[in-house]
Amino acid sequence: MIEITVKAGAAAKQRDDAVVLPLLEGRKLTASGSDLQRATGKKVSAFLRKFDVSGAFGESGLLYDLEGSFTQRVMLIGAGDEKKLTLHSLRRLSSKAARALNKGGARDVSFYLPELNVKGASLADKVQAVAEGVWLGLYNFNKYQTKKQENIRELGSVTIMLPSRRDLEDGEAAVARARAIAGGTNFARDLGNEPGNVCTPEFLGEQALALKHDRLKVTVMDKAAIEKAGFSALLAVNQGSAKEPRFIVLEYQGGAKDAAPVALVGKGLTFDAGGISIKPAAQMDEMKFDMCGAAAVLGIFKAAIEMDLAQNLLGVIASTENLLGAAAYKPGDVITSYKGVTIEVLNTDAEGRIILSDALAYAAEKKPAEIIDFATLTGACVIALGSQASGLIGTGEKVKKGLKAAGDHTADRVWELPMYDEYQEQINSDIADIKNTGGREAGTITAACFLSRFVDDIPWAHLDIAGTAWNMKGTDISPIGGTGAGVRLVTQYLLSRD
Ligand code: BES
Ligand code: MN
Ligand code: ZN
Repeated sequence: MIEITVKAGAAAKQRDDAVVLPLLEGRKLTASGSDLQRATGKKVSAFLRKFDVSGAFGESGLLYDLEGSFTQRVMLIGAGDEKKLTLHSLRRLSSKAARALNKGGARDVSFYLPELNVKGASLADKVQAVAEGVWLGLYNFNKYQTKKQENIRELGSVTIMLPSRRDLEDGEAAVARARAIAGGTNFARDLGNEPGNVCTPEFLGEQALALKHDRLKVTVMDKAAIEKAGFSALLAVNQGSAKEPRFIVLEYQGGAKDAAPVALVGKGLTFDAGGISIKPAAQMDEMKFDMCGAAAVLGIFKAAIEMDLAQNLLGVIASTENLLGAAAYKPGDVITSYKGVTIEVLNTDAEGRIILSDALAYAAEKKPAEIIDFATLTGACVIALGSQASGLIGTGEKVKKGLKAAGDHTADRVWELPMYDEYQEQINSDIADIKNTGGREAGTITAACFLSRFVDDIPWAHLDIAGTAWNMKGTDISPIGGTGAGVRLVTQYLLSRD
């Protein structure tokens, strides 16, 4: 990740390769832009009069070699209607500016974006959003492309400009928070983007162990240890795979010694072919992303460590592939899970809830203050919410409320679906305690009903990230591939907790 620092000072005085200034709708400059306009005489006004830029959100124009300023170029980036700006607008704008400049000749650049007014946001919030936008927007995953792009002078550093020297301390703290959060998000993206032949259950275990820290304890159980512990639901899904499963436990001690932790539970399917109930071939490759719940958990731990989060966390990840083979589990099989609840398998492709049953039951046993789980659980959630919000379902009213607020703040959004008692009937089994599919209706909700049987009375929130964990189009702050969904959301939630 490139270097980001903060500073205060006039735009005309900066010796950077580029100065980025916002331009509001109607070609209206903000304070620093007006200062620069005065310092450089008529050129900025003439440029604006040429209508090359309108101030519409996201469009940009460049001016070179302005007399009266020391910078090589000025980028005016359209910010639109100031009344409509949110923190996410700032993330998008700083990402767009950074991406555009990253393709050109500039190396060291200054951003005057925190000057924009965002309703309800502090300066620190704005600086954090601008820094996140840079780091998230510049993320790429090109380690497997052997021909590197030539004649590109990538950005070296971004300076985020503050109104006054008095703001430097707050600004630095905000950048540090952004570094932890973007670092955790980009780590989760990396794990998602790694192909299934590299990112195996064993690899996820190694990645967890590599998060070394004084206050973090990581335990990775191999197949023998999983058998001994009795995680038989995880073992059932693993039967069709030649690769061993892993059960990963992370304990982060940032709070009081005896304070109950927040448990973060992740689905770590490193490839989901559907099993005997095999998926169609089209887009099956995308099922390498079926471990993005696990990636979110690891990304949040990485961020928590880096920001010295003053809370206790318990991480639990169940990881395996779901493949077909002579030993694979079958429709009709009955599994006795770790908790003792018996599960009738009607569709081997509804494997996520099966492995999560053991992970959730284990987490609940540790009596955490609350449980949040992350899973690319249902195609139905993609149909319901698309890629704009993760599905939120659960019994913990306080944690759900906190997650909704954090979702609005971070634009790593959630939308709640109901879990009325009546839905539970859809997973009644004729021969076991529950069955692993609830029919075509309300597929996201019945999957959550299944999970609810394993969390006891611990306040619980389930995040279905099937539609948000990766994208095949790219967004303003994420390229094609893993998005790191859940990391910004839950780190913000943890920061806001009591
Ligand atoms: N990993 C999939 C869910 C998924 C599908 C995520 C498409 C993202 C895009 C999950 O294991 C699955 O296959 N779920 C089934 C459940 C069904 C068989 C009850 C589904 O959603 O089709
Ligand atoms: Mn599946
Ligand atoms: Zn799956």
